[in-house]
Amino acid sequence: MQVDAMPVANPKHEFELKTRVSNKLCAFVDAGPGRIFYTLSGAEAVENALKMARQITGRNLVAARAKSYHGATMGAMSVTGDWRGQGHFGAQNATLRIPEPSDDPDLSLTRRIIESAGSKNIAAMCLETISGMNGVIIPDASWWRGIESLCQEFKILLIIDEVSCGFGRTGQNLAMHHYGIKPDFVCMAKAISGGYVPFGALWVKEEVAQFYDQNMLSAGLTAYAHPLGLAAANAVLDLMKDQTFKSAKVALTGEFTAGLLELKNHPKVKAIRNVGLMAAIDLKSSSSDIGPRITWERGLDYGLHFAIKENSIILAPPFVMTSKDNQLLFHGLEKFLENFSTEAP
Ligand SMILES: Cc1ncc(COP(=O)(O)O)c(C=O)c1O
Repeated sequence: MQVDAMPVANPKHEFELKTRVSNKLCAFVDAGPGRIFYTLSGAEAVENALKMARQITGRNLVAARAKSYHGATMGAMSVTGDWRGQGHFGAQNATLRIPEPSDDPDLSLTRRIIESAGSKNIAAMCLETISGMNGVIIPDASWWRGIESLCQEFKILLIIDEVSCGFGRTGQNLAMHHYGIKPDFVCMAKAISGGYVPFGALWVKEEVAQFYDQNMLSAGLTAYAHPLGLAAANAVLDLMKDQTFKSAKVALTGEFTAGLLELKNHPKVKAIRNVGLMAAIDLKSSSSDIGPRITWERGLDYGLHFAIKENSIILAPPFVMTSKDNQLLFHGLEKFLENFSTEAP
């Protein structure tokens, strides 16, 4: 066990496990030559991507969406567009809001926003590949192609946030693999360590890494590349390739999707979106936000652990869910819907 072999290491130390996991993770990201910067969380992965993008380009602005969450540190909160990013006096002034994919499918408005802010002031775009807690928003491939071509045209670096949609949740290793995106940075955390220890990673393109062969990155994370995190990530990366695990996940996704399909025609359900093991159930409601009356704690009354976003229930079940758990999930949802009133009091 890693805890017996080497439970702690100096962050600058080079050791076999670190090299092995970095090689495996680069292969897993599969976006061309790159290197890994390790963190303890998703927010820190985003934070360091923002820091690097600004340092490399010498530009200050970062473009991000309103329906987004990128973490709870000051920089990550500045790009976060949902309620969690409000009122913290971070670097909000250095954030440029771009429209949602459904509001600007051909990106003509996004282009105008970039041009009027001055593309030479924009260091990066920071985007969740598939937004999770803001409603499981699944952009069209053409939107992603448009984002990549704007980034290329204006030399804007592309930061992809895979913290919640990565590591097999959507059916691919990373959600960006659905689209063939070739980013400059990929932020990862959560499932990277299977939840056993806090851990995160930032994949950077080789050109980004080479900048730091010549320049100093002010970092100094005491627990950078912690051996226990590396050991957990190593096990997860092996598991992601394991045929038994893969087949079980495909079967589970099938059962989960079948349950969702059955709910689609429920009189209180407006729409359902899902990709792999991530789903949003939009409820019919006379109010625009059921949040104040249906909290996630209410879900626990039905044996459910869900998040609420406006009129949607967000589900992201664990990969260890069994068929029985899946049945319980949909049974709980039926009961919840039975008692849910579409009329706000
Ligand atoms: C898309 C996304 N990015 C970043 C984060 C922040 O990750 P962490 O909580 O590990 O700091 C989260 C957390 O929920 C997230 O969903």
